[in-house]
Amino acid sequence: TRPLKVALLGCGVVGSEVARIMTTHADDLAARIGAPVELAGVAVRRPDKVREGIDPALVTTDATALVKRGDLDIVVEVIGGIEPARTLITTAFEHGASVVSANKALLAQDGAALHAAAGEHGKDLYYEAAVAGAIPLIRPLRESLAGDKVNRVLGIVNGTTNFILDKMDTTGAGYQEALDEATALGYAEADPTADVEGFDAAAKAAILAGIAFHTRVRLDDVYREGMSEVTAADFASAKEMGCTIKLLAICERAEDGASVTARVHPAMIPLSHPLASVRGAYNAVFVESDASGQLMFYGPGAGGAPTASAVLGDLVAVGRNRITGTTGPGESAYAALTVSSMGEV
Ligand code: HSE
Repeated sequence: TRPLKVALLGCGVVGSEVARIMTTHADDLAARIGAPVELAGVAVRRPDKVREGIDPALVTTDATALVKRGDLDIVVEVIGGIEPARTLITTAFEHGASVVSANKALLAQDGAALHAAAGEHGKDLYYEAAVAGAIPLIRPLRESLAGDKVNRVLGIVNGTTNFILDKMDTTGAGYQEALDEATALGYAEADPTADVEGFDAAAKAAILAGIAFHTRVRLDDVYREGMSEVTAADFASAKEMGCTIKLLAICERAEDGASVTARVHPAMIPLSHPLASVRGAYNAVFVESDASGQLMFYGPGAGGAPTASAVLGDLVAVGRNRITGTTGPGESAYAALTVSSMGEV
């Protein structure tokens, strides 16, 4: 079987892990997919940076030329942000490649248009890594629970802020000290404002709500309040009440079935609640459905290797589709529900 050609856009914390695992697990990946995968190019901003284990001949600063090559099977986008990622993804579809992305901001803003572009060209768009790192959520919601009716998705979907809140709670560390540590560990976004002001969690809430409720929810539809103003005194009062503080994403379907709400804000939760014991950069998401009852998904929600795990899972899925000449589920047939930012608190 001919090898599948994969281009990597971005080689930072996540991208370099993707490249590393593609090499170390090459045989396993080939066995899972049914064809070997070949790294055909790596687009970076800074070519001078040494990237261990990557053939320098594959490295380019011209991402546009790379996605226009015409012989690529899969483009993996781990640059983040809106542009140039959006144009590169649509260009990749136009030139025959399917796309695996970890880009929550872009998916939350332009998911519908990107799905339409993928569909138009008969290509796949997969983005398990965009929400909660290694934790499988997109595929369970889109596929495993497709025959059920999801009513509520509730959880901790930002590792950086959970790390900071946990650290402040358990060690009394200051906000800045905890943030610096989260950044050093590779959890925080390039600009940590996206984490601490709740934009990252709100983007993930929009993506989850859209898939869970089969509608379109955009970042702008999500009520958002960050955690940068949570203080040691807030933790002391929470403790007196037998609670702790977590930054929660809450997506709900209204009982009338005609509307959905999505919001992100710091919330006090009782210490007895399973979400209270989610430590460090871990994430946890509750899903409540008619038939399944309560499900909880838990695991590392940030960091290079965990996020790369989700990217590689998508790479295998998309690779299989390429081999069999099919595409996976696109945007689920959507209902035009009323979307608003606040439900009943
Ligand atoms: N900055 C994000 C987080 C990375 O801390 O959760 C994963 O999306």
